[in-house]
Amino acid sequence: MCGIAGCTGMSDAGKFLLNALKRLEYRGYDSAGMTLTGDGFRTIKVAGKVADLEAKYLSDPYLSLTGIAHTRWATHGVPSENNAHPHLCCNGRISIVHNGILNNYLSLKDRLEKAGHHFLSETDSEVIPHLIESLYDGDPIRSVSQAVEQLSGSFAIAVIFKDHPDQIICARKGSPLVIGLCTGCTLAASDVLPIVPYTKKVIYLQDGELASLTPGRAQIFQIKSLKEVSAVIEDIGVDESSIQKGAYEHFMLKEIMEQPEAFLNVMEGRVDADGEQVVFSELLHYAREMTSFSRIIITGCGSSLHAGLIGKYFLEEIALIPVSVEQSSEFQCRNPIVEPGTLVIAISQSGETADTLAAVREAKAKRAFVLAVCNCENSSMARAADAVSYLHAGPEQSVASTKAYTCQVLFLLLFAISLGRSRHLSIDRERELVQTIKKLPLFCKEMLAAVPQIRELAGKYSYARDFFYIGRGYLYPTALEGALKLKEISYIHAEGYHAAELKHGPIALLDASTPVIALIGKGVGQEKTIGTIQECLARHAPVVALASETSGEKLSPGIDRIIIPECSPLLNSVITAVALQLFAYYFAKEKGCSIDQPRNLAKSVTVE
Ligand code: F6R
Repeated sequence: MCGIAGCTGMSDAGKFLLNALKRLEYRGYDSAGMTLTGDGFRTIKVAGKVADLEAKYLSDPYLSLTGIAHTRWATHGVPSENNAHPHLCCNGRISIVHNGILNNYLSLKDRLEKAGHHFLSETDSEVIPHLIESLYDGDPIRSVSQAVEQLSGSFAIAVIFKDHPDQIICARKGSPLVIGLCTGCTLAASDVLPIVPYTKKVIYLQDGELASLTPGRAQIFQIKSLKEVSAVIEDIGVDESSIQKGAYEHFMLKEIMEQPEAFLNVMEGRVDADGEQVVFSELLHYAREMTSFSRIIITGCGSSLHAGLIGKYFLEEIALIPVSVEQSSEFQCRNPIVEPGTLVIAISQSGETADTLAAVREAKAKRAFVLAVCNCENSSMARAADAVSYLHAGPEQSVASTKAYTCQVLFLLLFAISLGRSRHLSIDRERELVQTIKKLPLFCKEMLAAVPQIRELAGKYSYARDFFYIGRGYLYPTALEGALKLKEISYIHAEGYHAAELKHGPIALLDASTPVIALIGKGVGQEKTIGTIQECLARHAPVVALASETSGEKLSPGIDRIIIPECSPLLNSVITAVALQLFAYYFAKEKGCSIDQPRNLAKSVTVE
């Protein structure tokens, strides 16, 4: 979603801001712009990519120490130069960038228009500079605080004033903003990635706070009272090498390949050195809450929701606790029963997804204990929940979730063991499960070695316009996830179905041009899914089966196969997901799609 960058005291602000926007590109956007201060303001915008903005800037560069910049993901109004940020006030002396959504912009706009303000865009954001202009009396801090007090909705903003060319005012409610502290210059950005090359010292602006940035100095105030607060300066826990693509063509491929190591990171500190026990040391403080609930609700969106669906199976099977899985936005659309004594687990890679954040708040209002499971540290969700566990999967920059998704599944498996152990699970069973899980990185490496075979199959089926993904048990949510991966990065229609549901309607769509990706596990579902495959073949649908050597033994000859390593059913969903990620990746590559930044998508979806 939208990305904000700002700097003051930088020797070449334009260069910094363009690099910062490039590092924010992964969030997803459709237009970009920046304002630089100097003798006056220089504002440039494009309805396109940061590279277009850079070309425009370099055709007439402007040396400046201070500026703000933005990548916009359209909500109110089409992607266009007019709607791109920064937005200026009527006299052109105030420029702002905004991330978030303003709920009351229409009434504010109406009032401001009646007072003579003239609007140039269709955006909600443009009310902000006009509102500040209407309140400005020479004091930037006071006018911004008075203006944002009138905004309802979510925002992170950065504002500059022509009268104060070395100062940036930032404010936050609901959308993230990080401030970087360097000697002689101060930076601001929507996340730490643009800041990492310059400093490790950051302040995470909190909701309800306003910051005044001048070269080498950041002062933080409460928006309401304008009382100065002493902000906590933290170290960025991300290093530069982990956010580079390295030799990989795409972040997505890099992140797929990083999974064996990411699994080790999830297990580190959670599986004891002897490999026998699972301990969530970050949750020891909540031992009472973790043992006193009788029910769990898992909530999340997209891939995180799919991980939650598998988590339900683990928790019910291993910990014998009833679990329901609730799509995050349904927490507000309907009124799910959340009794005291319910543990709500909110799963989110980014920790910023607006729907999930709203679900966390709703669950807390209903007195549930909320555990956030996030990958990004210091996120809004981590702060809003009662407790947080971090995945430690490492930064994920490709829009399509890969390693964060499989690490979420692994996390939930470990969590199920830990909860089971605190209830009924025997020490022997725990040891057995842990020994099984420790093999996951090795099985994953084995799966990754199947790239040539998967790439070839992706090429073979690249003609198809519709796919079905089917599975049972753990492999049902995996089918949903596999279909999601394909559609988001290749723009091909793909439906995930429970294998048994196919015959209840969707089978009507099958013909020779509709490949079915069939996920075959072990146990009860295996024979049934092989039966479903026969039904597909009888309708001339081509089938690609993902199965281990043994579970695929009964498949008819001639069916295309991706061989899944011979692992425990508990790990099968993760390993099969890795194969489906590779299939989606090579399919999209074959079609020449923009893999890391698919059209219309954003990495963290900060609007409801
Ligand atoms: C799919 C994908 C999205 C996210 C969803 C939730 O590849 O990336 O479906 O999973 O937007 O995002 P988080 O996990 O950040 O809450």
